[in-house]
Order: sequence, then structure tokens, then C-alpha cells
Amino acid sequence: MERVLAADIGKSEGKEIVLMGWVNIRRDHGKIIFIDLRDRSGIAQCVFVAKDAELYGKAATLRPEWVIRLVGTVARRPDSMVNPDLGNGAWEIKASSLEILNEAATPPIAIDTDGYEIGEEHRLKYRYVDLKRERLQKNLALRHEVIAFMRDYLGERDFTEVETPIISKSTPEGARDYLVPSRIYPGKSFALPQSPQQYKQLLMVAGLERYFQFARCFRDEDTRGDRQPEFTQLDLEMSFVAQEDVMNLIENLYIATVETLMPEKKIQEKPFPRLSYEEAMEKYGSDKPDLRNDKNDPDLLAFAWIIDFPFFEQTDGGKWTFTHNPFSAPKPEHHGELMAGENIGGIVAAQYDLALNGYEVGGGGIRNHTSAALKKVFEIIGYSAAQIGENFGHMLNALDMGAPPHGGIAMGIDRLLAILANEPNIREVIAFPKTGDARDLMMDAPSALAKSQLDEVGLALIKNHETNKEGKG
Ligand code: AMO
Repeated sequence: MERVLAADIGKSEGKEIVLMGWVNIRRDHGKIIFIDLRDRSGIAQCVFVAKDAELYGKAATLRPEWVIRLVGTVARRPDSMVNPDLGNGAWEIKASSLEILNEAATPPIAIDTDGYEIGEEHRLKYRYVDLKRERLQKNLALRHEVIAFMRDYLGERDFTEVETPIISKSTPEGARDYLVPSRIYPGKSFALPQSPQQYKQLLMVAGLERYFQFARCFRDEDTRGDRQPEFTQLDLEMSFVAQEDVMNLIENLYIATVETLMPEKKIQEKPFPRLSYEEAMEKYGSDKPDLRNDKNDPDLLAFAWIIDFPFFEQTDGGKWTFTHNPFSAPKPEHHGELMAGENIGGIVAAQYDLALNGYEVGGGGIRNHTSAALKKVFEIIGYSAAQIGENFGHMLNALDMGAPPHGGIAMGIDRLLAILANEPNIREVIAFPKTGDARDLMMDAPSALAKSQLDEVGLALIKNHETNKEGKG
């Protein structure tokens, strides 16, 4: 006998079938016990009658979340018992045998609610229980659908998906790196990538022309509702393109994704409006303005491109730093100024961000594809020749080996999904997120290292550090 999913029982009316899943709820009605069996497809009502004494007695022991295998016949429910809210609500299973595959402890948190009322500490400590709730199952399913759609869309347009290293080297993208001390080279360390920026440019040098990846990125910065230490980008890069080409590709991809998978959503304006950084700041005081006409409509999506960012800004100390990405190129009309080191504050970058309902959901740029221009950026931000060589020598060398003009973008997939799912926080669309204070409570990480592990990588703890950790280690 084949296993049938709960949602599909109507297709087997009159037949004997097998169901496997979890006890969602047990309801005792004197001579009848109802078990709602839950599996990945939904819930099916199963009936045990008292005259079948042994089976009935076994059903009476069932508790929520016990795992069962049940054999029974699919029958139409009496008219008065039909549940019109469920696709399978006209049928039930008359149980003929029951096997308990595993008992379960009482769940530490409720799973029959949307879960917003439960403290994050509890939800994330027992994330495997938390994830049983329907809302989170739907979010993970949506995430899968969106990623699958995008992957196909790009594959059909001649993009190649390439995985780039996770054990890598520090990059100058702004945030602090997560470090990976080396055992073989004590005192030296790898870093987890903040993004695949350099690798994707190197793939352009290698002649890939059209690359994408659903890339995990790591940034040791303070967590917020829209920021996790570890998050996912749809990262892509293209050769022989201008700013318009990258923006159009993403715009069409996002419109197709939304209109195909979520037709109930309304995109407020197509093509997406474009605002210069200056305009956005003047009119809305934000470089990711929320342009929705009606902020109460959960299905309204207001995308907007923000363009023409200043390349450099001055720090408090009067030094120049990059506003977005040191690998960006200036807009073509500002190339001369970059090379001459003139009008630095007025140089406009070929940089574009996508805003959605007040969030930055992506950003990218056309790159400097000559070593001379990239070197100039590092000189303007005050790196010495030695620093440039040590940190970026490989990039400069690579650009001298036939680097084509290229540009790309990285899209924040967690943020997009949180907005599409009307979630207030990206943690709701990530299977195993970190807490607001950047911990994994379920695994109890970060955790202290044994002395032997520290010795192996040539590290010693500073005493003060150890005692100042307040148990957070
Ligand atoms: P950037 O740093 O702007 O660009 O990142 C691109 C997009 O990633 C998302 N994002 C985050 N999402 C969740 N948690 C975080 N901590 C987090 N940080 C960023 C945002 C953001 O728009 N290499 C460049 C891109 C490029 O130029 O191609 C980069 O990483 O939605």
C-alpha cells in the first residue's frame, strides 16, 4: 500500500490507504476519537470508533507531535461534518490500524499559532519546533519557489552558476570580517566572505561573461530586523554591459518573479521609477525611500532605483573613503576626474541600488576594469603602495590579463522574501537565523574553545577578554 499525503485523500475515496505524519490534535468524543494527522501537505481527519476496542485504546494514548503510521479507508464525511475551509474537508479516514513510530515530548512552545506572541529566545532555541508552524513552513516554501524561479530564469538567459570560496580573505567592503584562524599557518587567518565581489570579477577576467550565485555572505556587524550576520545574496556579474543592462535584467527578473509566483501582489509602478541619490535625499531624506501610495496595503510593492551616488565621501578626520564599493567605476563622464584625482567629492559612481517599500534590497555597479583606475581609487582613500600591493595585488594583476568591461549587482534575498511574505523581520524567512544579539541559541554558538584547539591555531585568550564576556562566550 502506498503512502498518500493528507491533502490528497479525496482522490482515494473508498480505498484503503496509508498516512504517515504527526498527531496535530486528538479530540475525544465519547465513542469516537478524532485524530488530526499532519504531514507536509496539510491535515487529514482520522476516526477511531470505540467498538474497535484495541485500536481505540491505542488511539486514546496519542499525544500531540507523536509520529504515527495509520492505515484506513477514505470515506465521505456526513454532510453536516464537511469542513468547507479545507480542500480535503469532505473526507475522513476510518482507521483500521495504527503504528506509533515515535513518541514526542510536550512541545516547549505552541505551534498552532502564528508564533509572534512567543519570545525569540524560545522560538530560536527550539527552532526545529518553531519551524513546524504553518506560517514558517509557507515562508520556507516561498523561499524555495523564488530561488528556483530565479535560478531557471538566469539559466535560460545564458548565466552560469558558480560557487565561490567561503574560506577566503578579508575584503574592504565596510563591515568587520568573521575570522577563521589557520591551523597549518598559526597566527594567520582566513576570513569568511562579506560578498563574492572579488571572485565574481575574477570570473569575468576568466571569460565567464555571465555569472550568478545564491551566495552566503558573512558580516560581523550589529544585527537588526533587516540584517543578519549571515545572509543570502543573489549575486551576479556580466561582461560587456552598461549600467542599463544590469538594471533592466534585474527589473525584468523581479517583475517576472512577483507576477508569476505572487499574482495577488501589485507592483505600484512599472518600469521602476529612478531617483538620483540627491533627489532621494532631498525629497525623502533617505536613499531607500518608501514610495508606497498606501502603506496599509500588504500587497503593494513600490520598487525604485536610486542612482548617481557620490563615489567618495569625507570622514570626520578629513580623509576620503568610498560610499559603496571600492571596485565601482565612476560614471564615464567622471573618469577623467578620478584619474586626475580632481573634484573628488563631485565624482559620481556608476552605482545603483534597488529600494523596495523602504528597504535596500539590492545594490551594484559597473567596475573599474583597468588596474590604473582601480589603483587610483585606493590611492584616493589613502592606501600606501605597500598596502595596495598586499591587499589587492591579485586584483590589479588580474585586471592586466585581459579584463573585459564588466558590472553586476547583489540582491538581498532575505529582505525580498520578508517583504513578499509580509514579515516584519528577515529572521522569519531564514530557516536557522541568529538571534538579535548574534547567537545561535539552538546550537549554543558561539561557544568557548578548548585550550587544545587554541594551541593548534596558535592563539591565546587575553585574560580580560575572557572575564568580560559575561557568559556570552
Ligand atoms: P551590498 O553590501 O550593498 O553590496 O549588499 C547587497 C545587498 O545585500 C543585502 N544585505 C543584507 N541582507 C541581510 N543582512 C545583512 N547583513 C545584509 N547586508 C547586505 C542588501 C544589500 O542591498 N558586492 C556588493 C554588490 C555588488 O556591487 O555587486 C555588495 O555586497 O539587500
